[in-house]
Amino acid sequence: MYRYTDFDAGFVAERNCQFRAQVERRIDGSLTEDEFKPLRLMNGLYLQLHAYMLRVAIPYGTLNSGQMRQLAYIAERWDKGYGHFTTRQNIQFNWPELRDVPDILDALAEVEMHAIQTSGNTIRNVTADHFAGAAADEVADPRPVAELIRQWSTDHPEFQFLPRKFKVAVTGSPEDRAVTAAHDIGLRIVETAEGGIAYRVLVGGGLGRTPMIGKVLHDALPEADLLPYLEAVVSVWNLLGRRDNKYKSRIKITVHEHGIDEIRRLVEERFAETRTAFTGIDQEMLAAIRSQFAPPAFEQASTGAFEAAYERDPVFRAWADANLAAHRAPGYAIAQISLKAHGETPGDASAAQMRVMADIAERFGHDELRISHEQNVVLPHLRKDDLPEIHAILREHRLATANIGKISDIIACPGMDYCALATARSIPIAQEIATRFDALKTEADIGDLKIKISGCINACGHHHVGHIGILGLDRAGVENYQITLGGDQGPDATLGSRTGPGFSADEIVPAIERIVDAYLDLREDRNETFLETYRRLGMAPFKAALYDKAEEARANAA
Ligand code: HEM
Ligand code: SF4
Repeated sequence: MYRYTDFDAGFVAERNCQFRAQVERRIDGSLTEDEFKPLRLMNGLYLQLHAYMLRVAIPYGTLNSGQMRQLAYIAERWDKGYGHFTTRQNIQFNWPELRDVPDILDALAEVEMHAIQTSGNTIRNVTADHFAGAAADEVADPRPVAELIRQWSTDHPEFQFLPRKFKVAVTGSPEDRAVTAAHDIGLRIVETAEGGIAYRVLVGGGLGRTPMIGKVLHDALPEADLLPYLEAVVSVWNLLGRRDNKYKSRIKITVHEHGIDEIRRLVEERFAETRTAFTGIDQEMLAAIRSQFAPPAFEQASTGAFEAAYERDPVFRAWADANLAAHRAPGYAIAQISLKAHGETPGDASAAQMRVMADIAERFGHDELRISHEQNVVLPHLRKDDLPEIHAILREHRLATANIGKISDIIACPGMDYCALATARSIPIAQEIATRFDALKTEADIGDLKIKISGCINACGHHHVGHIGILGLDRAGVENYQITLGGDQGPDATLGSRTGPGFSADEIVPAIERIVDAYLDLREDRNETFLETYRRLGMAPFKAALYDKAEEARANAA
């Protein structure tokens, strides 16, 4: 993984030092909250419903055990003993005291982490496939180029006051586990006919108020052109992007208003100018970064112990079936640790749990951890024969829930529990759904089904791309939950369609149950997933199940 250079370390130390002085001025009253706001946002510090909230970047979701332990230490020393992993490979601390934030930032700097550009109208934390460098289906590791983009975009003088925030995601696998189509720029590494790699560039995707799927701006951009091309795209938007209306400022609106062909023309024009400014140093940097992401030395590992445990132990088998993914090296596996134990807050990990995960990574996993955009933790490089022991350790700490990709593996934004913008709760709805289906014992039978929940139209919980999406709104002071069906985050990302009128907080879990029951009735066999059934039959039968029975129940109750 990437290690800071002296320049990086000095840069972060200097930023922390400046911020410490700014915090002191806020505390002694020489800065008002309004004056302080732009300064704190430059360091990832928000003011939320109950307290300040600090958002820390986990670049392309990659952490080592020392970094994870430091997050545990911060959670314990300066927060309430836990942290919240988000859909953008960040961790949020919800309860820091303002006076402690400079110390927290120094603690982060000790392990080469920071909170710069996790807020504001800048290029945010660059996210990537959480199986990067490990996945069997990978064309190339997306992290070196994500790191290059991070270095290029951090404190980029022209891109500190963009029309709005700007999000870039990179995937190196055809499976696209980085939701590239829902980002301002999505990069997909593709193989060229000559066996090299190129970048498919998507632009103008995004969720939020006006959700859109990204459009292909360039089908196969040569690697050497990538940075100048990105520079051109962001420059074009920086000039064209709407600054008069916050709701129309994202690049997705710019692309929509001008059309992808016109945007391409302008980008090409700008690219002709920017290209000459890039003399190749970026490619040298990329080569150096790439050497830091060299894969660990995989052994010729046996799998006998794994297979024996798989045969013998049904609990281990269920976990292995749901939570393991194919690794590129024989004898190895990728394991996902679910932060979605039934009834818990999705994405939360206690300090003790963070330490357990760090210990496992150090002892068994080449010291590597990943955070997924689905709010789970990934151990990318495990020997299969170590998995029974790892599973036993995870079980002791409520980290072995076998539900990855299942109905209780719910993405949920903080909603009304923490977020100042929320119009409804998200976390309790997620908890109730997970608890309900756990009680019914139908989770394994239902199979792959992704539910995603947001507490307002900003869509931080990715509800538009959930197979079942739930959007919490406020209807005259009462929480109301709108359902969308058929969204998907994969290579052919799709936005879900609204079913119709929403449901109250009391009605939403039974409503989800009716949809799931309909699926169980309608599927051709156990192998047909919810999404496949929906795609085959469309909305109508689900809508009927959802509303006809609701009407019946209301009529009976009247
Ligand atoms: C609690 C503090 C938060 C605030 C104030 C906040 C604010 C916002 C706003 C205003 C938008 C809409 C932006 C736009 O379309 O222009 C947004 C989008 C988004 N946020 Fe958050 N958010 C917060 C927390 C989170 C969390 C916890 C997550 C992950 C769980 C998250 C991930 C996202 C994502 C994925 C989007 C939509 C993707 C897109 O930008 O198109 N945010 N957020
Ligand atoms: S979706 Fe809305 S409620 Fe949820 S975190 Fe984002 S801004 Fe807050």
